[in-house]
Amino acid sequence: MVKNIAVIRGDGIGPEIVEQALKVLNKVAELYGHTFNYTDVDMGGCAIDKYGDPLPENELKKCVESDSVLLGAVGGDKWNDVPGNMRPEKGLLRLRAGMGVYSNNRPAKIWKQLADASPLKKSIVDKGIDFIIVRELIGGIYFGEHKTENVDGKSTAIDILAYNEEEIERIGRIGFETARKRNKKLCSVEKSNVLDSSRLWKKVMHKLADEYPDVELSDMLVDNCAMQIVKNPAQFDVVVTENMFGDILSDEASMITGSIGMIPSSSLGATTCGLYEPIHGSAPDIAGKDLANPIGTILSAAMMLRYSFDMAGEADAIENAVSAYLDKGYRTADIMSEGMIQVGCEKCGNLIIENLRKV
Ligand code: IPM
Ligand code: MG
Repeated sequence: MVKNIAVIRGDGIGPEIVEQALKVLNKVAELYGHTFNYTDVDMGGCAIDKYGDPLPENELKKCVESDSVLLGAVGGDKWNDVPGNMRPEKGLLRLRAGMGVYSNNRPAKIWKQLADASPLKKSIVDKGIDFIIVRELIGGIYFGEHKTENVDGKSTAIDILAYNEEEIERIGRIGFETARKRNKKLCSVEKSNVLDSSRLWKKVMHKLADEYPDVELSDMLVDNCAMQIVKNPAQFDVVVTENMFGDILSDEASMITGSIGMIPSSSLGATTCGLYEPIHGSAPDIAGKDLANPIGTILSAAMMLRYSFDMAGEADAIENAVSAYLDKGYRTADIMSEGMIQVGCEKCGNLIIENLRKV
């Protein structure tokens, strides 16, 4: 198959982790006889430096016209003082909205080899951690009006959190469908004791539940969910939640699996053209030092093959190679533990390629 992939290296550790993922994709192409064409796209701080805009129209166009987009990370201290609507992160938000990818899927799964890297007690980890956070990605407070103005002589900042029932319903469906393919348990997370948007969220989820009688729906307040994720993560199968709650809970969920550096994500909308990115940030403090863990990006590339290109075998091959690499005791700094062999970002990529076998 021939696939055209838009590649956003971005800022900080972005370029080095994306480089490893591309090496892995090239190896897959060689083993399976595919052709992957890459188109470089500038987004984030590097695009601000080059064009004065974190995502120029033409760069977005390259993404929308591709078969899917692979992204490293954007942002960094260098651009902290640029106005809010021109920050590197704004490029990412415009990309998500421009691609219409409303459904972000973030797995929280512990690799058996990394059980020791989890900060949770062994008795909790042993019960298993394997759930998915389905995060609404192009609505809510991230996309409401943001402004700072003078009110009664005081500088006042306003961020609007709005959801309409259609936006909730379409992400709700993804939640139910995802649960249907797994253990059929969906937990809808909101703050309905305080927020109107959450009360509508809950109402829509319950209406949808009638169409999915095989899926068990439960509700949980977001503060309780934050607690339950560390207390008893084994209770979760699929969590569906709004944009900002999903942002926060997915960082928490990643941490209990050992390292945020290991977690991939997929973002999809109405078409198969998806956006694939690790859930971590650009980590400017370790950029260029060959210290980053590229596995989140490599596994994001695997998700691209599985969900956008219908290449399940190829995706399995990548995941098996990551598992084999971990089995052999290799670890980047973020997941290093006693008795293991520490490797850098580039070596990690090379070792994963060495362990790639056609399945
Ligand atoms: C994420 C990130 C982004 C988000 C930032 C970089 C805008 O934290 O993908 O989780 O908040 O969505
Ligand atoms: Mg985040």
